[in-house]
Amino acid sequence: MQEVKIQVISEKDQASFVQFCAERGIIHDSEAILAIVEREVEDQIRWELKKIDEPKLGAVFVDFVSGAMAHRRKFGGGRGEAVAKAIGVKKGELPTVIDATAGLGRDAFVLASIGCQVRLVERHPVVRLLLENGLERAYLDTEIGLWMQENMQLLNVNHIADLDPEIDFADAVYLDPMYPHKAKSALVKKEMRVFQHLVGADLDADTLLAPALNLAKKRVVVKRPDYAEFLAQQKPQFSRETKNHRFDIYSTAI
Ligand SMILES: C[S@@+](CC[C@H](N)C(=O)[O-])C[C@H]1O[C@@H](n2cnc3c(N)ncnc32)[C@H](O)[C@@H]1O
Repeated sequence: MQEVKIQVISEKDQASFVQFCAERGIIHDSEAILAIVEREVEDQIRWELKKIDEPKLGAVFVDFVSGAMAHRRKFGGGRGEAVAKAIGVKKGELPTVIDATAGLGRDAFVLASIGCQVRLVERHPVVRLLLENGLERAYLDTEIGLWMQENMQLLNVNHIADLDPEIDFADAVYLDPMYPHKAKSALVKKEMRVFQHLVGADLDADTLLAPALNLAKKRVVVKRPDYAEFLAQQKPQFSRETKNHRFDIYSTAI
C-alpha cells in the first residue's frame, strides 16, 4: 500500500478518522501543508482536500450530483464529448470501459452518464478516498443514484496489472496519468493545483500501456498534453487532437 503523510482533520470524530485513514495508508502529520478534512454537509459526510497555506485555493472534493460535473452532464456535449468519441462511442455502441487512472472521476463520469459501464482504478490513497466518498454520495442521489451504481464502480486494486485479462477485460481501457507540467502551470485551475501538489507526476506511467493492451478487447485510449511524447514511446494507430490535448488510440481488435 502506498503511504502518504498529510494532516488528517475531522469536524466530527478526530480519533476515529485518524484511525480510519491510517488503515488506508494516510498517516496524520500535523506539519503537512495538505489536509484531508472530514465534514458534515447537508446531512452527508464529505471528505475534502485542502492546502492549508493557500486557503484561497478552496477545497477539492468529488461531487457528481451538483456543481461543475452535473452542469457538464446536463449541458455538455454528451456523446459528442471528445473523450466519448475517443473511447469509441457511436450510434448503438456503448463500450465497456476500464479507467485505469481514475483521479477525481471526471472523464469516467462523462462516459458513465452517456451509458457506458465504467470500472475505475485509482492507486493514490487520498484520491481514492475522495473518489469513494463522491461515489457514495452519488449512489444515494434520487436522480442519478441508480445508473451511477450500475455504471461507475471503483475496483479494489491499485494497478490494472493486478486485473486478470481472462475475467476483467473491457472494450476500452482509458489512461490519463499525470504528466510533468510545464513551467506555465500557474494557469492551471486553482482546484487542479491542489490536486497536482498531492499526486505529483506519474513517472511510472509507461508501465500502464502493456497491461492496458492485454485488457482491452477493442482499444486503449491515452490522454496526453499536446506537447507530450507517446506513452512508452509506442506509436498509436491514430490520434485525435483537441484544443489542449491529444487522445492516442491503440487498436487491439485485430
Ligand atoms: C490526471 S489524473 C486523472 C484524471 C481523471 N481522468 C479525471 O477525469 O478526473 C491521474 C490519476 O491517475 C492515478 N494513477 C497514476 N498512475 C496510476 C496507476 N499506475 N494505477 C492507478 N492509478 C494511477 C493518479 O494517482 C491520479 O489520481
